[in-house]
Amino acid sequence: MDPFSGKGTAPLEACLGGRVGIGNDLAPEAYVLTRAKVRPVGFEEVRSWVERNRSFIEGYRSSDAPEEVEVFYSKRTLRQILAVRELLERPETDVEWFVKAVMLGILHGSPVTPSRSSAHTRSRCLPDTSSARSRNWA
Ligand SMILES: C[S@@+](CC[C@H](N)C(=O)[O-])C[C@H]1O[C@@H](n2cnc3c(N)ncnc32)[C@H](O)[C@@H]1O
Repeated sequence: MDPFSGKGTAPLEACLGGRVGIGNDLAPEAYVLTRAKVRPVGFEEVRSWVERNRSFIEGYRSSDAPEEVEVFYSKRTLRQILAVRELLERPETDVEWFVKAVMLGILHGSPVTPSRSSAHTRSRCLPDTSSARSRNWA
């Protein structure tokens, strides 16, 4: 059991060892990432989720996003992100939680100065959308 489990390494290792892993963290994104790790889904499940939702995603027309998020994406990509965000607002299935975790990893970039508040969702090669406003939006 890890009472401050962050990205969920301890629960994941417990599961890999055939044990029951328990993680706790006050950050909601820690839950999203940990859940995806302890209940992973396969490539085909993700592909089929995308296929099932493709027409919704491609037909999405709203582009209502904070300016600080908008600057990083082309209009089409931003609409796709917004569509996926809407689809995953209240995930239910393993594949939905998994895709949400993947999206969190993709959407948050590397800070110049690491911040404890969003350390779970940083990628080294993508733009930093991790201000408090952007994090709440994502
Ligand atoms: C350094 S990370 C944990 C890393 C993790 N233990 C590991 O081994 O990979 C610290 C975590 O503590 C969480 N945290 C901080 N204060 C907390 C609190 N009062 N209750 C629950 N979690 C908390 C943070 O959100 C953060 O994810």
